[in-house]
This record gives sequence, structure tokens and C-alpha cells, in this order.
Amino acid sequence: MKLAVITGATRLGRQTPRQSQWIVNAAAEIEGIDVEHVDLKDYPMPFFNEPISPRYNPSREIDPTVTKWLEKINEFDAYVFVTPEYNHSIPGVLKNAFDYMTSELKRKPAAVATHGTIGGPRAAMHLKDILSESQAIVIPKASAVAGMSKIISEDGELDAEISKNPYGPQRQLDAMLTELKWYSDVLAPARATAYAVNV
Ligand SMILES: Cc1cc2nc3c(=O)[nH]c(=O)nc-3n(C[C@H](O)[C@H](O)[C@H](O)COP(=O)(O)O)c2cc1C
Repeated sequence: MKLAVITGATRLGRQTPRQSQWIVNAAAEIEGIDVEHVDLKDYPMPFFNEPISPRYNPSREIDPTVTKWLEKINEFDAYVFVTPEYNHSIPGVLKNAFDYMTSELKRKPAAVATHGTIGGPRAAMHLKDILSESQAIVIPKASAVAGMSKIISEDGELDAEISKNPYGPQRQLDAMLTELKWYSDVLAPARATAYAVNV
């Protein structure tokens, strides 16, 4: 399974890459997962302003950075979107990145990883909804970390004491990744024999 861990925040001084690195490290431990970190900061796209919804516009004229983003996102079998909670939702830069997509996520599993003062639950709910409209298969398990920047280092190490908690964030993350792989293994062959339904 080719897995993208997508960092969905780009502001100066952002903390989200800590959580992304932690997830990349955990995914790399699981047999059969080929993980890549995709950082939205490397795809500085303009605000979406296409005249027609991209799904209904076969002759889109798009910025080269947007093309690069869409081609990159299309490469994967499964996704973890990593986002902070901003004003009870996801950062605008992440929503903007979704607005450019058409069928890149279609019939592929996606998981949500959030952080914020209380773990980012409102961002998680919004993101699940957005992913669903993006035609991804949103898996039930998620990863939410409260006070993330205090307990995960810049190189993605979770505090040693906290990681021992059998009901803590490490267990939650490992379960989410294991389940994501299960969904990916089930869905990949089904996509490969794609039936002629294009709805
Ligand atoms: C513009 C802004 C809005 C925020 N709104 C919320 C919020 O609604 N709920 C919350 O729990 N935390 C909120 N926070 C705190 C962030 O979730 C927290 O600082 C997080 O680390 C930000 O991720 P970042 O450092 O990668 O930008 C907000 C932070 C910013 C910058």
C-alpha cells in the first residue's frame, strides 16, 4: 500500500509536522506500507477560482503547482490527512487543496489525524465530511492528540511515558493505521477490476 501522510497546515511556526512525522514513523514500522510525507507547504496553490466545478470541466486551465499537487495525490492507495483545528474547522489552505480535486481520492481509504487544544474533534468532523464528498472511503478510526506539540518532538517521538499507556495516542494511531491498511488491501483489487460505473 502506498500511503500519503499529508500535512495540512502551512503557517510560519506550525507544529503539525511533528504529528505527521510521528505518523510516518509508525507507518514505516508496519509491513506492507510504503509511506511518504506530502507537505502542503511544498504546493503553494492560489485560492481556487476556476469558472466551473473541476469535476464538470474537462478542459481546465490550472496553475502548474495545482497540476503537481493533483498528480502527487493521485499516486497513492491510501491517505492520512493531518490537520490542526483552526476556528473549529480545518485550515483554509487544506480546504483549498480539496477544492481542486476531482477523482484522485475516489474509492480509496482515508483517515483523519487531528490536534488542537482538545485534540481537534470539530476539525475531524469537518474533514470527514469533506473527504466523503471527495469520494474517499473515510475509515471510522481516527487519531486525535490534545496538546500535541508538548508531547511529540520535532522528529516525531511521542513522550515515552505517554506511549506506554495502553489506551493512549500510540495505541489509537497504530489501530488506525492497521485498519487503514485493511481497507486499502480490500479496496485496491476492487479498483483494479473497476466496473463501468462512473457516478
Ligand atoms: C488561527 C487559529 C485558530 C485556532 N482555533 C482553534 C480551535 O478552534 N480549537 C482548538 O482546539 N485549537 C485552536 N487553535 C490552536 C491550534 O489547533 C494549535 O495551535 C495547533 O498547534 C495549530 O497547528 P499549527 O501549529 O500546525 O498551525 C487555533 C490556532 C490558530 C493558529
